Amino acid sequence: MKIESITLHNFRNYADESILMGDGINIFYGENAQGKTNILEAVYLFSSAKSHRGAKDKELIRFSSPEAQISMKFYSQQRSQEAKMYFYQNKNKQLFINEIEQKKIKALLGIFSTVIFSPEDLELIKDGPEARRRFLDTDISQLRPNYYKILKDYGRVLEMRNNLLKKEKIDKDLLEVYSMKLAKYGAKIMIHRQLFIDKMKQKAKEIYFFISDKKEELSISYRPSIDKTYELKEKEIVPKLYEALSSGEDILRRSTLKGPHRDEVIFLIDGKDAKSYCSQGQQRSIVLSLKLAEFVFMEEVLGESPVLLLDDILSELDAKRREKLISFIKDNQTIITCTDKDFYYHLDKPFIARKIQNGRVIGK
Ligand SMILES: Nc1ncnc2c1ncn2[C@@H]1O[C@H](COP(=O)(O)OP(=O)(O)OP(=O)(O)O)[C@@H](O)[C@H]1O
Ligand SMILES: [Mg+2]
Repeated sequence: MKIESITLHNFRNYADESILMGDGINIFYGENAQGKTNILEAVYLFSSAKSHRGAKDKELIRFSSPEAQISMKFYSQQRSQEAKMYFYQNKNKQLFINEIEQKKIKALLGIFSTVIFSPEDLELIKDGPEARRRFLDTDISQLRPNYYKILKDYGRVLEMRNNLLKKEKIDKDLLEVYSMKLAKYGAKIMIHRQLFIDKMKQKAKEIYFFISDKKEELSISYRPSIDKTYELKEKEIVPKLYEALSSGEDILRRSTLKGPHRDEVIFLIDGKDAKSYCSQGQQRSIVLSLKLAEFVFMEEVLGESPVLLLDDILSELDAKRREKLISFIKDNQTIITCTDKDFYYHLDKPFIARKIQNGRVIGK
C-alpha cells in the first residue's frame, strides 16, 4: 500500500496544503515546530483513527477554525482509493472511504496500515506496563481487526466487574457470569499477544544485534498475570484464568487482579532489564528494532508493505548506530522527518526531500 497524496485543511498548523507523495522515501525536514510531525500524525490517523501522540480530536483543529479536514488518496487492494476524515469541535469525527460514510471509525484497519516510530514511543521502555500493553494492542489491532473488538468487549466486562466488586453487597451469581466472560475474552487476548511476541522477538533480536554492531543482545518475553500459560491453547487458558478470577482475592481487594489488563512485557539487553539499566541510545535502538520487526511481520501478514513513518529517528544515536539504521531503510514508501539535512547525505537510495516551514511545504 502507498499514499498518492494527502491534503490537510485547517489541520494543526496547516491552513490548506496538498502534498504529493513519492513511492519510495519521502523526507520532510525543517526547524523545530514547523509542522513535520503533524504530517505523520495525519497519515497515522487514517491507519488507526487516533493520534499517535494521544491528542484529542479538538486539538487537531487549527486554532480558531471551526473544523478540520484531512483527505488521502492511496493505493491498496490493487486499486486507488480515497479516504476523508472530518474533525469537529463538539461532535465525533467522521470517516468517508470512497465517498461513503463509515459507521466504524476504524474501518481502514487492515486496508491502510502504517508502522510509526515517534519519540513518544520511547515511553515503551521506561514507563509502566500499560505503555507496553498499549503497544501490543495497537499493533495487533492493525493486523487482526477482530482483536480490537475482543479488547473492547474485555474492557467493557472488566469495568462492569470492577464496579460490582466495589458494591457493598456483591451479587455472586453476576460476578460469576462476569468472570466467565472475562476468562473467555481474556484467553483470546493472551493468545494473540503471545503469538505476536513470538513472531516479533527473533526478528527484533536480529535487528538490534545489527544496529548495535553485533555487540548487544535483545530479548523480549511476555509475562502474563497468570503463570505457566506458555504454549497452552486458548481452551486450556480459559479455565486457568477463570480459576484465578475465582480465588476470592478479588472480593477482598475489591478489584480484578488477574487477566490481560495486568500483563507485562519484559525487554532485556544482555540479560539485564532494559527499564532499569538502558541508556537513551539503547532505548531508542530497542524501540526502533521493535518497529522494524513489526514492519517485516506486517508485510508478511498483510501481503503488502505498510507505510513506514519515522519521526526524528536519529537523535541520541551515535554515528555507527545511525549508519546501521539508515542502511535498514528500504525502497518501500517511507516518510521520514528530520531537523538535520545531513541525514540524507548518508542515504544510498533515491528520495524526495521537501522543507517544512511554518505549516507550508516548500519545494513541492
Ligand atoms: N491545533 C493547532 N493549530 C495551530 N497550530 C498548531 C496546532 N497544534 C499544534 N500546532 C503547532 O504546530 C507546530 C508544529 O508542530 P510539529 O509537532 O509538527 O512540529 P515539528 O516540525 O515536528 O517540530 P520538531 O522538530 O520540534 O519535532 C507547533 O508549533 C504547534 O504550536
Ligand atoms: Mg516533530
